[in-house]
Amino acid sequence: MDKIISLAKRRGFVFPSSEIYGGLANSYEYGPLGVELKKNIQDEWWNAFVRQRSDMVGLDSSIILHPKVWEASGHVASFADAMIACKACKTRTRADHLIEDYFEKKGEKINVEWKSVEEFDKIIQDNKIPCPTCGKYDWTPVRKFNLLFETHIGIVPEAQSKVYLRGETAQGIFVSFKNIIDSTRLTLPFGVGQLGKSFRNEITKGNFIFRTLELEQGEIEYFFDPSVGDWNKLFESWKDSMWSFVTGNLNVREENLRWREHSDEERSFYSKRTEDLEYNFPFGFKELWGLAYRTDYDLSQHMKYSGVDLSYSDPVTGRKFIPHVIEPAVGINRLMAMVMLDSYSEEGDRVVLKLKPKLAPYKAAVFPLLANKPELVELARKIYLDLKKDMQVAWDARGNIGKRYYSQDEIGTPYCVTVDFDTVEKDAGVTVRNRDTMKQERVPIDKLKDYLKNAIQQNGSQ
Ligand code: GAP
Repeated sequence: MDKIISLAKRRGFVFPSSEIYGGLANSYEYGPLGVELKKNIQDEWWNAFVRQRSDMVGLDSSIILHPKVWEASGHVASFADAMIACKACKTRTRADHLIEDYFEKKGEKINVEWKSVEEFDKIIQDNKIPCPTCGKYDWTPVRKFNLLFETHIGIVPEAQSKVYLRGETAQGIFVSFKNIIDSTRLTLPFGVGQLGKSFRNEITKGNFIFRTLELEQGEIEYFFDPSVGDWNKLFESWKDSMWSFVTGNLNVREENLRWREHSDEERSFYSKRTEDLEYNFPFGFKELWGLAYRTDYDLSQHMKYSGVDLSYSDPVTGRKFIPHVIEPAVGINRLMAMVMLDSYSEEGDRVVLKLKPKLAPYKAAVFPLLANKPELVELARKIYLDLKKDMQVAWDARGNIGKRYYSQDEIGTPYCVTVDFDTVEKDAGVTVRNRDTMKQERVPIDKLKDYLKNAIQQNGSQ
């Protein structure tokens, strides 16, 4: 993880947020390469789950919704972590993480899922668990801490103006359900996908971009009639789609992935089945992507709180009912952390990000063999600007060719294109060097764009 964090900062993928002011916990900036990688992952997600499916549509709902939305969804009452503070050094931490870390250091495992505040207090007292920061044992009682960020809108009196930054994108889909079915010809089953920022007042240490205050979610609500077919089959088909997206579209190794089914205690009371797709992060297997069968809970709650009929009428039988929903929900930032970790490799003194070419921030880099030969620079520049019309390309004229190759390998650029004297004087061909095989090939300039486009589409050399 340290190597990835350092590479991410050094090469412009991810920076600590507001660094010139000393930083802000659990917040990050996505730099020039990071924003490209993140956008490529988002595009893959959007294309695979919205554009390429006939049973899916997209949505872009507001970050600030009516505050009643969050009362209806249960977030105001129970979207909370158990928190504890050290009276001596003022460190605040999540009680479950404090207990887990303490037992892990002793080589023991403890299940802290869904324990009550009183149970957390008892475990901490019985074991006299000290503060990990100052070593003292002087805790406040454990208390629940709501994760929703509150803010105010300016035009109404203070008390009535409280609103929340959305804690998940999902609720925007439920509150737009009626408008979506009224404005389209969609019939069940169908899904609505949404990409966008959510906000959670996380008090725990984040493990790089794994857990952040602002997170980019990719959520799908897949609505269906529970009286038609077996919902377990639908659940399994979503498991297959998620697995193939991660292993295929994102090229992640299967041995680093596993499914974990939620126990009865862990599962929300309204969910009939929940499973997490987990990735083997450097700090262990952790949730990457959740899949939950949420029944008709959300639509029923919004119907109750808004008084608006959110039921669906079957166009053939006329039967009215509230659709049920299966929800695959993922954090794009978590996908990006996984992609960087999974593609990182060291080969001798070479560091290579073996990113799938479609995901790489730059598809190719263009170099003049020598920076002080104007005829080489001029032609290389022309090729660079022409390629740039169709794909993200890097330009590098510093140092020697070997260093430029290594520099591009480290950020995952799949192809390097060199313009040399033969290009100008003889064959109008360029040398294309492959990141993974390190083999070089001579390609005519007029065929270069198609060559790169084909290679990227067919997954390059991987
Ligand atoms: N609508 C359901 C929902 O939001 P969740 O398990 O709380 O479920 C879904 O979040 C996904 O969002 C998680 O699987 C994870 O990938 C991502 N996620 C959740 N909290 C996050 C955070 N603080 N930082 C980054 N990603 C987060």
